Amino acid sequence: MDGLDDGPWRVGVLFSNTGFMAVIERTQIQGTLAAIEEINAAGGVAGRPLQPVIYDPASEPANFARCARRMMVEDQVRSIFGCYTSSSRKAVLPVVERLNGLLWYPTVYEGFEFSPNVVYTGASPNQTCVVLCQYLMPRFGPRFFFVGSDYVYPRETNRIMRELIGANGGTVVGERYLPLWAPRRDFRAAMAEIRAAQPDVIFSTVVGESTTYLYQSYADLGMDPKVMPIASITTTEAEIAAMGHDVGEGHFTAAPYFASVDNPRNAEFVRRLQARYGSDVSLNMCFEAAYFQVHVFARALAEANTTDTDLLRPFVMRTEIEAPQGRIAVNPLTGHTDLWARIGRCNRRGQFDLVMQSTRALRADPYLVGTGRTFGECVA
Ligand code: ACM
Repeated sequence: MDGLDDGPWRVGVLFSNTGFMAVIERTQIQGTLAAIEEINAAGGVAGRPLQPVIYDPASEPANFARCARRMMVEDQVRSIFGCYTSSSRKAVLPVVERLNGLLWYPTVYEGFEFSPNVVYTGASPNQTCVVLCQYLMPRFGPRFFFVGSDYVYPRETNRIMRELIGANGGTVVGERYLPLWAPRRDFRAAMAEIRAAQPDVIFSTVVGESTTYLYQSYADLGMDPKVMPIASITTTEAEIAAMGHDVGEGHFTAAPYFASVDNPRNAEFVRRLQARYGSDVSLNMCFEAAYFQVHVFARALAEANTTDTDLLRPFVMRTEIEAPQGRIAVNPLTGHTDLWARIGRCNRRGQFDLVMQSTRALRADPYLVGTGRTFGECVA
């Protein structure tokens, strides 16, 4: 039995609606609430609606931890949909572990983590970094420059990328980090440094509002994405809308989902959400993962009939659903999600033309155990 008897199922919603990460985390709020609205319109779960408890941690990891604790201690929430940055996830981790909650984390990240108190529904490095290198190196060349925001996700992702590039005969010609709140002029200086190093590809792990500054600095210097593109695993349709379509055009992103994914389920998803939220609703990988993970939760909850983490988790771990990206599954071996791998090149309309996609969901391999470092061994 659930502690809240016959009342609504309370769930936490913990993404930033303000601060330098709001540009992207708002898409995760929207995706979460869209799914909750759909589930409630269809009668809820076991006749009980989902009731979101929403806090705004304002892009500060310490606030994420405080809000998560408050949700669990004062609001009787056990499942929390939340976190974009890996630093916010790392701040919430001890809270959900100590209080035995379940954090549903819908964001691409650096891997090399496992907690029984987290369901990882964003992409792991084998579903992003490996396929991106494999696509770009033969087409643009082996010399990479890394530019990133200064926190755990960029530094760890670049460690993985350096290993992959090296194992395939490439080199990293520079590596530069800027604070999450760095002003635009700092990106101008960084981009001048990058241009001077003459890499074949700029790999960006810059996130949030400063993504705009990076790409705009590139455009300001008159650089050409046909020759030296920026490649990323976090720059989505939302950041492109913020920076300007002309600024994003020609650059690459690897992700499980783009709004342009061509399948009947996604066509219906896009149509329905545009009808509900307007044609400029920002559908991207973050919205989609935030959306489908609530459906995974609802499916497991219908079977478990409780939000108690120990009782709910076994049902989560065997859930497979048709998501807008295609059929996905939470992998019980790792608690991570088997997802599709895709690479898109941004076009003038701010959407991504798909230049490569897998034919099925790739098994999540967060520790890169079963994924070879050289492309001959890769499974894309
Ligand atoms: C991230 O910090 N996982 C994008």
